[in-house]
Amino acid sequence: MFIGKKDVNKAELLALMEQVKSKPLPQHVAIIMDGNGRWATKRGLPRVAGHRQGVEALREVIKTSDELGIKYLTLYAFSTENWKRPATEVDALMSLLVEYLRKEIQELNSNNVKISVLGHVEAFPPIAQREIANAVEITKNNTGLNVNIALNYGGRAEIVRAAKAIARDVLDKKISLDDIDERLFSRYLYTAGIPDPDLLIRTSGEFRLSNFLLYQIAYTELVFTDSDVLWPDFDKRAYLEAIMEYQRRQRRYGGLIADEGTV
Ligand code: IPE
Ligand code: IPE
Ligand code: MG
Repeated sequence: MFIGKKDVNKAELLALMEQVKSKPLPQHVAIIMDGNGRWATKRGLPRVAGHRQGVEALREVIKTSDELGIKYLTLYAFSTENWKRPATEVDALMSLLVEYLRKEIQELNSNNVKISVLGHVEAFPPIAQREIANAVEITKNNTGLNVNIALNYGGRAEIVRAAKAIARDVLDKKISLDDIDERLFSRYLYTAGIPDPDLLIRTSGEFRLSNFLLYQIAYTELVFTDSDVLWPDFDKRAYLEAIMEYQRRQRRYGGLIADEGTV
């Protein structure tokens, strides 16, 4: 029987899937989806074409996360610093978000995906806010993959916001100063109730966090792709490889593991 290249790839991907599934999976994956602009520029296209192509990668990653049974997927879609970009690009990103939610929400909902948002979305245009609120409302009772979209999100802003809310609750005597500990603090973050990410992936070869989840990633395993893997290039294989890299890591949390010698 003739097996075409596509079939071989399919078989390889299936084998990779099985390999990844046979080992402990991250419960929570966070992704800095970076490199859309460079992907487009490399092809002589406007940057927005890269963002559009990035949506395809996003679709694949959501699907694969669901297939693997990952519980939480947190995606950095727009940072508090991204307002510095030209208004035309910011506008294009907002339109793309609205278009994406309108097009995908029914399918996401039928796949039992629950959409949540991290960030100060109140600063977004009303039309975007409406679509976001609608997506959150429609999917609120779903019990499958939790997709958290970070929109107008900044790690420092999140921490300052939490500190203010805690101070307010102390002043209002809802809590006392002695109640404040790491557990309580994390309940005031956008990620309240969500376990910390096990794995953080950033595409495009940039080795920085760009203000993402600063509080939550204290013990997260970080995986950075090479610079030739821009976000629109991040396909199922690249995702599975990132998870395999995670599965090779030894998580110590400051302690020791069994074979690290005698004291
Ligand atoms: C990531 O791609 C998407 C957003 C920040 C919205 P970029 O737009 O940052 O692409 P590069 O890094 O300029 O290539
Ligand atoms: C981080 O990427 C934000 C998102 C992916 C949404 P940026 O492209 O904005 O980060 P910097 O500017 O390279 O640090
Ligand atoms: Mg970038």
